[in-house]
Amino acid sequence: MDPVFKASILTSTLEGFKMLTLTMAKRLRMFEILGKYVSPKTSKEIAESAGYRENYVTQLLDTMVTFKYINYDVQDKTYFLPIEHREVLNQESWPLKWLEIVPLFSAAQPELEKIFKVDGPTALPEAMNDAMQPWLNEHWGFDEPGEDYVKQLVDSMPELKNKLEAGIQVLDVGCGWGGLGGAFAKLYPKSTLYGIDLEGIDIAKKNNADIKNAIFSVADCTKLDPSWSDKFDYVYIRNVLHFVPPKSLDSSIQEIYRVLKPGGTFSLIQFNHKEIGPNKGDIFVCCGGAIGMYAYHGSEDACLGGTEETSKEGSKEEEYKMEDLSSDMPDMARSGKCPLVHEDRVLKAADFKNLQFIPIAFDQEHIHMTFSKL
Ligand SMILES: C[S@@+](CC[C@H](N)C(=O)[O-])C[C@H]1O[C@@H](n2cnc3c(N)ncnc32)[C@H](O)[C@@H]1O
Repeated sequence: MDPVFKASILTSTLEGFKMLTLTMAKRLRMFEILGKYVSPKTSKEIAESAGYRENYVTQLLDTMVTFKYINYDVQDKTYFLPIEHREVLNQESWPLKWLEIVPLFSAAQPELEKIFKVDGPTALPEAMNDAMQPWLNEHWGFDEPGEDYVKQLVDSMPELKNKLEAGIQVLDVGCGWGGLGGAFAKLYPKSTLYGIDLEGIDIAKKNNADIKNAIFSVADCTKLDPSWSDKFDYVYIRNVLHFVPPKSLDSSIQEIYRVLKPGGTFSLIQFNHKEIGPNKGDIFVCCGGAIGMYAYHGSEDACLGGTEETSKEGSKEEEYKMEDLSSDMPDMARSGKCPLVHEDRVLKAADFKNLQFIPIAFDQEHIHMTFSKL
């Protein structure tokens, strides 16, 4: 037995208990209560002000003392949240906000385990997926890329760079909060950036209020503006297709093809799952993989797309497609590419040509493919 390895697993177990303690304290708004006190209080005082049972509050406080989150005065039997801990231990701090996912994931775990089985369901129940969405919408978009990302991306495509500098029409499909779109518009003021998304457009507009050449609007990528045929010189879509139900994947790709000008370029940037395993050093890639397993298992990871509900909506044709995708899985495991983003998927759906893989140097999490409309 390797004692160091055993110790590391024991540490993980202990960290798990710490996580549960923090999660419970946060959900019970204990940090808000403790953060208001300027002097130490007894557990009775704390419990009364919270409207909680004292014996339970004492136990939670004692656990937090043991984990050294809060201080305890043995003589006065009082508890105090140290001033220097308050910046981190408050209801709004991001490390704690991340912990909100723990109870959601815990509730989803038995259902997720069923999905592993070959004859099990293909996705989480709709209600469970819905329960996660607000958290994902709020927190999983926190790393929207900006100008550095766009520079790297465009530097790797010199022809496109020249066009962007001269002034072209660009479409960001599923632009989110406009981080990437705003950066494109700012870096290439002679070009016009259109950003579309099902939601979050108000935030995208607000975030880019001072940028005149960026136009954000609500739209569904499965049905783009009919007047946009052959309008755009460059269309990109990043981290969106795993949200699109399988039956609409082909129409999304066909819509992108339609709105692209002949001679235009389409960039598809999507999670590159092969990096999750081999990229052992990157904790964020691992977190992405873990969250993906719970939250997007019904789409990207299970390669089926959508929730149980959207899967059910599928017609006979849809069922066939899903089987078709499943049969890609061994190949996916070998290549490390998800069939959802597999080049064949795009090439089959529309008349795209000239597939190229262009890595984005500092974004090993994603795979970047470009296609041309001739
Ligand atoms: C993970 S975010 C990616 C945002 C941005 N592209 C990025 O890379 O930072 C996924 C976005 O896809 C959007 N989305 C999902 N389905 C869509 C659809 N059918 N049409 C347009 N946008 C969609 C979501 O609303 C969300 O803003």
